[in-house]
Amino acid sequence: MNVSLIQNSDKLKYDIEIILMFKKEFEKSSFKEKKLLKELNFKAQDEEVVFLPESKKIFVGCEENSYESLAISMSAAVKKFQATQFKTAYIKLCKEEQQSLKAFTQGAILGSYTFTKYKKEEKKVEQELILVASNDLKELSSLFNEAVIVANSVNKTRDFVNTTPDDFYPKIMAKEAKKIAKANELEYAVYGDKYLKKNKMMSMYSVGRASRHESKLIHLTYKPKDAKKKAVLIGKGLTYDSGGLSLKPSDFMVTMKSDKSGGCAVLNIIEAASKLKLPIEIHAIVGAVENMIGGDAFKPDDVLKAKNGKTIEVRNTDAEGRLVLADCLCYAQDEIQDIDYIFDYATLTGASVVGVGEYTTSIMGNSQMLKCHAVQSAINAGEYATSLPFNRFLRKTIKSEIADVCNIANTRYGGAITAGLFLDHFVYEQNKDKWLHFDIAGPAYVEKAWGYNPHGASGAGVRMSIELLKELALK
Ligand code: BES
Ligand code: ZN
Ligand code: ZN
Repeated sequence: MNVSLIQNSDKLKYDIEIILMFKKEFEKSSFKEKKLLKELNFKAQDEEVVFLPESKKIFVGCEENSYESLAISMSAAVKKFQATQFKTAYIKLCKEEQQSLKAFTQGAILGSYTFTKYKKEEKKVEQELILVASNDLKELSSLFNEAVIVANSVNKTRDFVNTTPDDFYPKIMAKEAKKIAKANELEYAVYGDKYLKKNKMMSMYSVGRASRHESKLIHLTYKPKDAKKKAVLIGKGLTYDSGGLSLKPSDFMVTMKSDKSGGCAVLNIIEAASKLKLPIEIHAIVGAVENMIGGDAFKPDDVLKAKNGKTIEVRNTDAEGRLVLADCLCYAQDEIQDIDYIFDYATLTGASVVGVGEYTTSIMGNSQMLKCHAVQSAINAGEYATSLPFNRFLRKTIKSEIADVCNIANTRYGGAITAGLFLDHFVYEQNKDKWLHFDIAGPAYVEKAWGYNPHGASGAGVRMSIELLKELALK
């Protein structure tokens, strides 16, 4: 859906009006349609929507004046608008225009998202939502543009992730990365199996060995002239995770096209950051790999050597994301000098989903401060996140009898943290406090629609990272 911003005038032309009704105000206020709304049992609760065709008004309830409530209400309203054939709708911004502007814009763009690539369905009319401001647009328009850029990046991430594994394999991911690089004048490099072997990245290489699709290591760089800091973003790009020889049961295998969510997020984060001209150098690195079975597959019992020389005992081929990320972390730290921040994004563990729920990202790392910062940025950006703690006892559970580290823990508990601790083995000493690990296994893929997220990919990680990078660039 197209969203535009204009200043209030008498000459507004539109088909329908959207009216946001705060629950508290609904009871007190008196207006023409109130009696009818009451008869329809409208109570102005969050997400409650009524369309009155005669007056051409969509009423939507809202219980709180927060980004989340406003965005969710907006999303509910635009869905109702989408169910009609009307072309334009308008809504007046709330009193605190700056806050409602971002929430309305993103709620509308995220909430109206649909993924129709595989549907035969006829093309729908292009609809437009007009946001009407009462004040001068000067200040508002840059906020508006930013909100649009970020929301569009979330939707593009959703498109990537929703695309099926036969249409989106490592080579395609590299192609999409190249498109982003070309369109935004970013530096671009992509490496294949030959490079992985030559550079002793056998951990990443082995995971992709049984696939008919060659693995790709993708590296984009955004280098603004006024860069004050340097951040590296690494994404798990498992274009499909069958589990490998430790094969997933069929019910758990469906949705594993979403195992590329971290990689897709970092490609779109770097694009949004460059569009926003953030004054921070950013590297986006993706390990694009398909984890399959076959005579050439890597096996439980194999010992793999990563780029930093550490050996890894494989006891479960389904704990493959950490094997790919291990080499990507090494690659980043070997190839990029003077890193200020190094973040990885991955749908890494089912344990994260069990532990914190399907709506929340688990953030791990060695710096309490950086973790807090990231959690706060996520919440400010409208995403749920929490931090999980490392400890010395969980650290011991990934010891191996025959190699330097084991790819699974010897305990059933704390699986999200032990995965994070595994990654910590591949973070060099000088970067320990600069590193964060984002486990987005819960929120990345939506099986039951919630808020402004329809079924399918959510684009988790994009909004929170832009917010965090903005903060860090200024520090
Ligand atoms: N990609 C999965 C994790 C996952 C699970 C993501 C559910 C999204 C939803 C990952 O590669 C995996 O299979 N992890 C295993 C690790 C285990 C073998 C130690 C898991 O979580 O079961
Ligand atoms: Zn797996
Ligand atoms: Zn996986």
